[in-house]
Amino acid sequence: MIIECSNCERKFKIQEDRLPQGKIVAFPCKNCGEKFRLDLRTAVSINEKGNGSEPSDIDLAPDHQPDNQTDANGLKDKILKSVKELPPMPQVVIKTQELIADSNADAKKIAEIIETDQGIATKVLKVANSAYYGMSGKISSISHASVVLGNKILGEVVMLAGAEGILGGNLPGYGYDSKDLWKHSLAVAFGSKIISNSKSPDLVEEAHMAGLIHDVGKIILDSYIVEKKEEIESFMEKEEKTFLDAESQYFGFNHAEIASEVCKKWNFPESLIFPIKYHHQPGNSDSSELSYILHMADYVAILSGIGYDSDDVLYDLEDGTMDFFGFKNEDVSELVLKVTESVNTIAI
Ligand SMILES: [Fe+2]
Ligand SMILES: [Fe+2]
Repeated sequence: MIIECSNCERKFKIQEDRLPQGKIVAFPCKNCGEKFRLDLRTAVSINEKGNGSEPSDIDLAPDHQPDNQTDANGLKDKILKSVKELPPMPQVVIKTQELIADSNADAKKIAEIIETDQGIATKVLKVANSAYYGMSGKISSISHASVVLGNKILGEVVMLAGAEGILGGNLPGYGYDSKDLWKHSLAVAFGSKIISNSKSPDLVEEAHMAGLIHDVGKIILDSYIVEKKEEIESFMEKEEKTFLDAESQYFGFNHAEIASEVCKKWNFPESLIFPIKYHHQPGNSDSSELSYILHMADYVAILSGIGYDSDDVLYDLEDGTMDFFGFKNEDVSELVLKVTESVNTIAI
């Protein structure tokens, strides 16, 4: 199917069989950034034109390395050093996760740790009281939250509160306004949680956490994209490539690989580092279930139109992902609805 952005008139090819039929879905245009809608109730694009020239099949240029290999290596080193300069995940979040990982964790001790950081504690109370957790306004203190929600859910809420401070800013290189990446990350976290709940319940907590931070590498790469903005935009425009392609082309690695480096810096377990590294290529992950969950949830987040992601994951859902879960298009439509509802009912 060929669809055309009503704003900039750029045409895109998308694979019709991967779209949830019977719904209206929103797409971010990878060219101008405007969102446009596709009405699948009639299987016809709102912006689709029945005539006009089709976009030619682009002969994809082979990956080229920057001309000067020494410069390329220098840039790679510089980017990896930037990982060390990223603000740390608040200590209270790390400590809480460590305590909760211990099945004998003392709820009182966990509450005391959370209360040492007033910013996080306030956020935790706000999130815990949102309609998503069914506790609207009923939780009055952190110790009350730990009793009512239980340690695992409290850990999830603390992670949400901590991640917002890191993911909530704007990223001018990628064209994200403030909170765009945060909302996308929330959608992927909820999508990952919902998928793992039905397919692999043992992975629920890890899936939620990995979904939240899967794109943290973009925070590192953004300033480098800004430096080469014109060059990168021209590459994407001329060769119909995505930011993901541009990252590998210009920096030698993509944001998923950088995200895995950030996770190492934060001392997250290998069970999160590895799946995050392959969230755009789960086929290379040696069948990591969490990699497939993240990849699927990313796709669902794009379809739901929450936040903004110009990665074009929509057009690149890796072959075999639907089969990995045994999903049909109806399952994807249902996931889009559930994720949208989850994000709408969480207080952030
Ligand atoms: Fe990503
Ligand atoms: Fe993503």
